[in-house]
Parts: sequence; structure tokens; C-alpha cells
Amino acid sequence: MSRPATESHDPAGSDGDGTRGAYPPPVRRIALDRAPTVVADDPAERPLVSPSIERALRPATGRERLRIDELSIFYGDAPKPAVNAVTLPVHEGEVLALIGPSGCGKTTLLRSLNRLIELTPGARRQGRIVLDGEDIDGLEMTRLRRRVSMVFQQPNPFPMSIFDNVAYALREQSRKRPSKRDLLPRVEHALRRAGLWDEVSHDLSRPALRLSGGQQQRLCIARALAVEPEVLLMDEPCSALDPISTTVIEQLIHELRSELAIVIVTHNLQQARRVADNVAFMYLGDLIEYGPTEELFERPRAERTREYVGGTFG
Ligand SMILES: Nc1ncnc2c1ncn2[C@@H]1O[C@H](COP(=O)(O)OP(=O)(O)O)[C@@H](O)[C@H]1O
Ligand SMILES: [Mg+2]
Repeated sequence: MSRPATESHDPAGSDGDGTRGAYPPPVRRIALDRAPTVVADDPAERPLVSPSIERALRPATGRERLRIDELSIFYGDAPKPAVNAVTLPVHEGEVLALIGPSGCGKTTLLRSLNRLIELTPGARRQGRIVLDGEDIDGLEMTRLRRRVSMVFQQPNPFPMSIFDNVAYALREQSRKRPSKRDLLPRVEHALRRAGLWDEVSHDLSRPALRLSGGQQQRLCIARALAVEPEVLLMDEPCSALDPISTTVIEQLIHELRSELAIVIVTHNLQQARRVADNVAFMYLGDLIEYGPTEELFERPRAERTREYVGGTFG
């Protein structure tokens, strides 16, 4: 049988399996009459790579956005702080997961990062939190909450329309009241980023409370994203959701990661493994161990971490 005409003829003769024993392969030179065109990297053309593999392939995360420095939080006269002298960096383009059993200070730590903790009577803070080199105590509160925005455990849409939920913060931040038409592109953009647009675009005037739980949580994410934050805080954002909504939100976290830093609290270890670049394990207010996800799960350094990720307690 003759070979197809397109196959190149090999004058040196191959030894059958494509190798040539000790001889190096011949170098073929192609003369070009002009410089080659560099084809833009189209994300749609890239092969599908599972999140964990992609994470492993990614270079170390970007510059430091947020630094938590010797942070302690005390509630009332409790003898032990709820968060005890924790130091942690948060990088651009990173998902940092805070893990640990219930009551170990994860929510308290998260709520400190945009000074929500100050709304709790009797809560006191020690230590510093620095956002892009600036102490957050020196930042105006609404501006800080715009730059570091938060999504809570229970979806908490406002009792208003889908549109107004997302537009709320945009209206709040502009001096003269913008029209619906002016706001629509930004509302649409936020809903698209939160992966909700296709499901709600036909009727943005629908009451938000009529949406399913998973849609409500994505709406809250859209609301948090509308103000273009630099850091997104998520406190167990999937714990009240069904598995399908959880998958959608994890996918979303994965996509958003390149645009902003995300700090997510989760007591679901599998979720931390799936979404996080770095993991901080907290126990009774102490930061026990911090490191790249794979390392913390596969080669924990502390005995406590080993027990926790191994399922001995939790
Ligand atoms: N508002 C509060 N007043 C007093 N103690 C609180 C308050 N909120 C949390 N705590 C206590 O602080 C500790 C840490 O709680 P929390 O940050 O909610 O932990 P986690 O999110 O890890 O479950 C717990 O012992 C909890 O009882
Ligand atoms: Mg909590």
C-alpha cells in the first residue's frame, strides 16, 4: 500500500518506530519572506484543564494586596481572644481559604478585614491590617467596604428588584442620582461576572427574593462585584446552597480569581482543596498553619493540621 502523498519522504530511513538510533534528527530550515505573525492567545481555544491542574501550573500569586499583621480580636471580657495574633498575607490573583472547625475565629477574622467587626458591641481589635500599603484605619469606611466587599453565609438580597440590588451600591457611591439607563451597563456587567445574567436578563424588575437560593447568592456576589472591589470576602458562601449552585459558585470563584484577591471561609475541606491557592488553618483563634493548598493537605507540618485534614476532628 502506498503512503499518502502528504507524508514527507525520509531519505535517511527511519528504523520503524520513528527513532534513528544514535543519529540526531536532521534540522530543517524554513525560509520566511516576512516575520511570522504572532497569533493572540484565545482563551476559548485553550484546552480544558481541571482547576487543580491549572492551579499547579500557575506561577506563584501576584503582589501583596492585604496584610494582616499580628491581628487579635477580643469579644467583651472573654479570657481568650477569638483571633490570636494572626499574621497573613493576601495576594493579587489569589484565593485564600480560611479553614478550621466551628468557633475557631474564621468569621471574626474575615469581618475584621473590612472593619465590619466594629459593628459588634464589645469587640476590640489589636494589630494592623494594611491594604495596598495603607492602614485600613486611615481609610474612609464606605470606601474601604467598596474596596474590600463581602458575601455572607446566608444569601441576603435586599427586598427590592434584581436591578436595584445590584444598582444599590452604585447609586450610593455617586453624588447625583444616576438614571436606570446610565446604570444598566454596569448592572449587566456585574450580573454577567456573577454568572447570573442569562437567567435574569429577561426581567430585571423581578423581586430578588423570588430567586432560588443559588441565584440569590450569585446576586449578592454581583452586588459585591458591582463596586469593583480589590478584595472579595466570602464567608461560607455555599453552606446554604444545593450541590449544583455550589459548583456554579466555585466555578465563578475560579474565574474571578484572576481579577481580584478572594478570601473564602469554608469548613468544607474538599471545597478548600478545589478553589484555594493558599490555605490558612485556624484552631481556637490561633493560626496553626498557612501554605499552598496542596502542601497543607498533602504534607501538613503541624500535628493539629494533620489531624484536622485527616478527619480526626472537626
Ligand atoms: N458577637 C460575638 N460576641 C461574643 N463572642 C462571639 C461573637 N461572635 C463570635 N464570638 C465567639 O468568638 C469565637 C469565634 O467565632 P467565629 O469567628 O464566629 O468562628 P467561626 O467562624 O470559625 O465559626 C467563638 O468562640 C464565638 O463564640
Ligand atoms: Mg463562621
